[in-house]
Amino acid sequence: MSHIFVTGGAGYIGSHTVVELLNADFDVTIFDNLCNSSRVVLERIQKITGKTPDFVEGDIRDSAALAAAFARKPVDAVIHFAGLKAVGESIEQPLEYYDNNVSGSIVLCETMQAAGIRKIIFSSSATVYGESASVPYKEDMPLGRASNPYGASKAMIERMLSDLCDSDGRWSVAALRYFNPVGAHKSGLIGEDPKGVPNNLMPFISRVAVGKLPELAIFGQDYDTPDGTCLRDYLHVSDLADGHRRALPALEKPGFQVYNLGTGRGYSVIEMVQAFERVAGRPVPHRFAPRRDGDLPAVWANADKAKTELGWSADTSLETMMEDTWRWQSANPDGYPQF
Ligand code: NAD
Ligand code: UD1
Repeated sequence: MSHIFVTGGAGYIGSHTVVELLNADFDVTIFDNLCNSSRVVLERIQKITGKTPDFVEGDIRDSAALAAAFARKPVDAVIHFAGLKAVGESIEQPLEYYDNNVSGSIVLCETMQAAGIRKIIFSSSATVYGESASVPYKEDMPLGRASNPYGASKAMIERMLSDLCDSDGRWSVAALRYFNPVGAHKSGLIGEDPKGVPNNLMPFISRVAVGKLPELAIFGQDYDTPDGTCLRDYLHVSDLADGHRRALPALEKPGFQVYNLGTGRGYSVIEMVQAFERVAGRPVPHRFAPRRDGDLPAVWANADKAKTELGWSADTSLETMMEDTWRWQSANPDGYPQF
């Protein structure tokens, strides 16, 4: 495999994966409509790797644009990150989410099929296990009921891809269920740059630390966990990116496969705040607030399957995750420059 087509490759996880692929000498095309990312990412990727990925600005719901991009040079596999990901927004705008994520994935697969491309890695999420699974989550557990349209869209796409493999033995699909990616590339040149007020913990903490937000609200202190705050399986985004590279050989085997990508251990919200404060050497003002709707007390992966079958594990320490987040945030206090 040499040429990888990366939808959403200008985004947070996509850009780190593109760096990983270029460093491993893959040829890469990024296809992204830049609705949640910046063109500056392309220059930053070039600075890190010394290589320039091909870039096509386009929407995955636009079959003609995809077909034209596929026609430029033969594609060996697609890594599909493109989609919308904000849980709260998905509750307010469900049609937008089903359209971007589900319809977008259908158009992508149809256009791949027409071009004779039948290998795809899909960005899924631990959210597909639903609300009643017990930890650690394992790939053979049944999919649960998603509490929001974002989660439901991920479960629907997984189902669609699995049905596609059942119907046509030439398809190879790896659905990677991410736990909680955090951190940034060690160069500090690329990182997470959410638009507006962040929903997720790590960008919220780092924006408080850099003085862009006044304080962190910790959602709930009465969970049945050691310190009363929720536990999550945080993994370094560069480890996650490496997981995609290691999943590519699994596409040589046809059929639908699922892998959890997490560390296999949970940290509490308080542990995260304290670890960040230690590394950044400054306080992160915080207060306790009521629980957030839809939050589960504890989520972490059983990541044995990825280790055994892909030779992958997420080993970067919590301290390094914090150092890298802080390096990115302090060097880019306003995120990527806007033009
Ligand atoms: P991101 O928003 O940074 O990246 C997504 C990219 O896709 C952006 O560059 C955006 O411009 C692009 N995009 C969105 N809709 C598009 C469309 N219709 N056509 C073309 N491009 C489009 O998000 P991310 O954190 O890098 O997440 C990547 C994928 O991983 C998403 O599918 C997300 O749902 C999934 N995921 C993310 C997390 C997480 O915590 N970040 C966890 C689980 C799963
Ligand atoms: C959330 C989504 C999940 C999605 C993932 C990646 C919900 C319920 N879940 O996961 O579907 O796949 O993001 O986009 O939204 N926290 C605070 N204060 C904050 C922010 C977060 O205390 O300002 C806490 C949360 O209560 C949670 C932990 O930090 O306990 C992690 O939160 P977050 O980063 O949003 O990730 P998830 O909730 O695990």
